[in-house]
Amino acid sequence: MTDIISFFKRHGYYHGKAKLPIELVETFKSEFDPIFAEKQKRFYARFTEPGMYGANHDINRWNMLLPSESSMLRSGFFAQEELFSTLKSVFHGDFSLVFFSSDISSPGSTFQTIHQDGNDFAVALNVPLIDSNEVNGATQIYPDTHRISTDSEFTNESNEFTDDQIIVRANALNPLTLHVNRGDYTLRDLRLIHRGTPNYTDEHRPYLSIIFLPSSHNEAPSFEVILEGLELFKHMKKEAFPTGNTALIDFANTFGRLVMAYSFSDRIHRPIAKNVSDQLHEDALYCLRFAKFEDQALNERIVRNEHLSEALKKEIVQAKNTFNELMMDL
Ligand SMILES: [Fe+2]
Repeated sequence: MTDIISFFKRHGYYHGKAKLPIELVETFKSEFDPIFAEKQKRFYARFTEPGMYGANHDINRWNMLLPSESSMLRSGFFAQEELFSTLKSVFHGDFSLVFFSSDISSPGSTFQTIHQDGNDFAVALNVPLIDSNEVNGATQIYPDTHRISTDSEFTNESNEFTDDQIIVRANALNPLTLHVNRGDYTLRDLRLIHRGTPNYTDEHRPYLSIIFLPSSHNEAPSFEVILEGLELFKHMKKEAFPTGNTALIDFANTFGRLVMAYSFSDRIHRPIAKNVSDQLHEDALYCLRFAKFEDQALNERIVRNEHLSEALKKEIVQAKNTFNELMMDL
């Protein structure tokens, strides 16, 4: 275990090989496929002109939040012993599972711009639902770039690299392509420089993508205010997508992520049913403690704080105004 932790701290990622039973990954895939097909259908139905958009982000790439009533959540794989102890150690404090989602590189996707997912420390857990390599869009990483320089220590401090500096740093290094097989998982520091690669095949390449963020206090805004934010997000998407205006679509998506980050959970409008939470073990319930549960006792672990509700409310009002201005400028 200490090997995994020190590898992760040093290199900014860890590739766990043959860690999950293949049958479990197959079950995930059989549940995932119809959910994704439905998502694509709903997405394309928004547009009057067919073929106008390949996918919901970048070129032929998808992000999709996953439902709470699936074996993917119920299995609690994201908090299995080895993963949980690694997370506990690298966070140096409390953390929570904020995004329970998936990344799909679809046929025709291209090289992404080299990037960091953020300047702040957080951890992404990826589980490939099919084997992935250079042919179908495996992730390319630049090891060690989560630290500000090769001789600096691992810390949880944010860095301040700009988009241009990130490219300069990467160009001086050799990337590593993460060839992953079903049953593997990868952990990645969100500050690590990386990019998605093209999918040259005619098959989607889905990864489960779970994001853990630091969360020191067990306090969050009220469910009412969070739901108000999520309603606005839904409205923004409905208005923005048909315009085809990338700035507007990006604004809507960024706002959606902000509401979920404020909430420390994307499970407020996807509450977790009692028959699911009853099956989750203690560490999985810890990771999901900011979610909304049908089981009231589990909700009581978090204090719904008035001050935080007001702060989120302010963001909602501001975003609403900016969005309306952007719409008027079209
Ligand atoms: Fe990324």
